[in-house]
Amino acid sequence: MAKVLYITAHPHDESVSYSMAAGKAFIESYKEANPSDEVVHIDLYKENIPHIDADVFAGWGKLQSGSGFDTLSAEEQAKVGRLNELSEQFISGDKYVFVSPLWNFSFPPVLKAYIDSVAVAGKTFKYTEQGPVGLLTDKKALHIQARGGYYSEGPAAELEAGHRYLSTIASFFGIPSLEGLFVEGHNAEPAKAEQIKADAIERAKALGKTF
Ligand SMILES: Cc1cc2nc3c(=O)[nH]c(=O)nc-3n(C[C@H](O)[C@H](O)[C@H](O)COP(=O)(O)O)c2cc1C
Repeated sequence: MAKVLYITAHPHDESVSYSMAAGKAFIESYKEANPSDEVVHIDLYKENIPHIDADVFAGWGKLQSGSGFDTLSAEEQAKVGRLNELSEQFISGDKYVFVSPLWNFSFPPVLKAYIDSVAVAGKTFKYTEQGPVGLLTDKKALHIQARGGYYSEGPAAELEAGHRYLSTIASFFGIPSLEGLFVEGHNAEPAKAEQIKADAIERAKALGKTF
């Protein structure tokens, strides 16, 4: 039985969002094909995802100097404690499904805050004499992303920095590969939008059966 973390970074649901529509098609198909797996939805727009700020640095500093957790201020305890919860939950997953829209060539900032919360030495990677080494070598990951223009190929391909960054961080964590499922071109060619969406939903359903 695998534990799947379904991590969505979108303020809307599938009625508005192409990413979320493809994500929903994928995860429903996955659940049908893997009824005994556990799927945990982490809705980054609803969850408390602390930013790494002055409280967090102060809290970490106290812990590193040997002070107990109870010496942290209430704010420091809340933020450091929550970051710890998020990283523990992340490493408890076997498969990761990220859903995000392409915004200004990247993903919404809450996803970066989430990545910052799980990029923890000793949990997702470790330092060695040869440099950092990823620890999540037995995991699988998928990124579902809608983008109004075309980025899979063509002149804008080099500009896409959302899936690219997620691939970099997945690789840094040791995850063997980050698959991509893209819904693209519907803003560039509005007349084809419905077809582009329907095609992506079909691909998402098919991938849900095999992922
Ligand atoms: C804030 C914002 C920024 C966007 N930036 C880009 C962009 O850089 N490139 C692009 O092709 N489309 C861009 N778009 C269009 C979206 O990628 C497109 O609408 C896509 O469908 C968004 O995913 P969604 O349908 O899940 O919301 C942007 C849309 C918004 C709202």
